[in-house]
Amino acid sequence: MVKILASAPPWPPMPDAIRGREARMAWYAAVARWAPSKHNTQPWQFVLRDESLELYADPSRTLAATDPHRREMVISCGAAAQHAAVAARAAGFDVAMPLFPDGSDGPLTRISEVGPRSTTARDTDLLDAIARRRTDRGPLDAHQLGQELPFELQSAAAAEGGALRLVSRPGDRATLADLVQRADRLLQRRGEVERELAPWLRVPGDAHRDGVPANHTRGPAASQRAEFVQRDFSTVSSRPEQDRPGEDRPLVAVLTTPNDRIADWFAAGCALGAVLLHATTAGANASYLNQPVEDVALRAELRDQLQLTGFAQLVLRIGVGAQVPPTPRRYLRDLIHRA
Ligand SMILES: Cc1cc2nc3c(=O)[nH]c(=O)nc-3n(C[C@H](O)[C@H](O)[C@H](O)COP(=O)(O)O)c2cc1C
Repeated sequence: MVKILASAPPWPPMPDAIRGREARMAWYAAVARWAPSKHNTQPWQFVLRDESLELYADPSRTLAATDPHRREMVISCGAAAQHAAVAARAAGFDVAMPLFPDGSDGPLTRISEVGPRSTTARDTDLLDAIARRRTDRGPLDAHQLGQELPFELQSAAAAEGGALRLVSRPGDRATLADLVQRADRLLQRRGEVERELAPWLRVPGDAHRDGVPANHTRGPAASQRAEFVQRDFSTVSSRPEQDRPGEDRPLVAVLTTPNDRIADWFAAGCALGAVLLHATTAGANASYLNQPVEDVALRAELRDQLQLTGFAQLVLRIGVGAQVPPTPRRYLRDLIHRA
């Protein structure tokens, strides 16, 4: 099993108690920005207000072609909120994180400390996992994982209001593979999707601190040969660095929610954060097969064919992968403001 070793975490040291609550809130945001987001858009803004941390979705980062209702944007923000809560627990605080219904203009949530707690070794492990978690689009092997892991991941999702439906029967995997393939082709035929992705692709040396490095991909040829075709992030000159030899038999799962409203999307993001961090602590990497969820008809077909209860929000592949370099994040100073 490849154990990805943490170097120094990519955020400043945890502020000591004397620096007070506002310094801790800023630190929670510094950690939260390492959450995953679609095309690494990092579609969040933080506001420090009355010793709490408001989290806003940033509409200027909307992906109108593939995410017209900002569903995946809210999911990304939910993952950031979950990461902030992990940071708070590691710092010795429980937090409240109510969802605000006026999410389109106002904050999605306001994170505030509700009391001290004794930090456990698990709290520290989960914080460490934020620094080590990676999207890995290369071969992933679930056979090297503990047999109990799928059920632990289901519990992690359920604790945040999501449900993780494992796709394990060969017939179901084939059905999903077919749907992903059809969706991938359909989305590619709609040229707008590629046009939308192009501004988020990054070549080596690019100064942007968002977007997806064009070498963080498996490349179209290897992806087409695999059991599940993945979204490709190559450019004409990039080298698909996640195309590597290895057993490719991931655990595959659909993350669902009971309804399909903003609260469900936010909960899906929290559940995604919890699942990915738990998987990281077990030595697993993950990536996505979201193409069928991004088309209304294929999303409905996915629900019918896999007999899902609830609404599909994301499709994940999880397993032991390789050591993958991190994807950049924006500077905290561009993300956080004082009210
Ligand atoms: C809501 C959401 C949707 C995503 N969709 C895809 C996807 O369809 N294909 C993919 O390869 N990665 C997908 N990603 C992963 C992002 O590209 C990745 O999180 C981002 O590039 C940052 O890289 P990191 O996760 O390694 O930090 C998605 C992430 C989120 C949160």
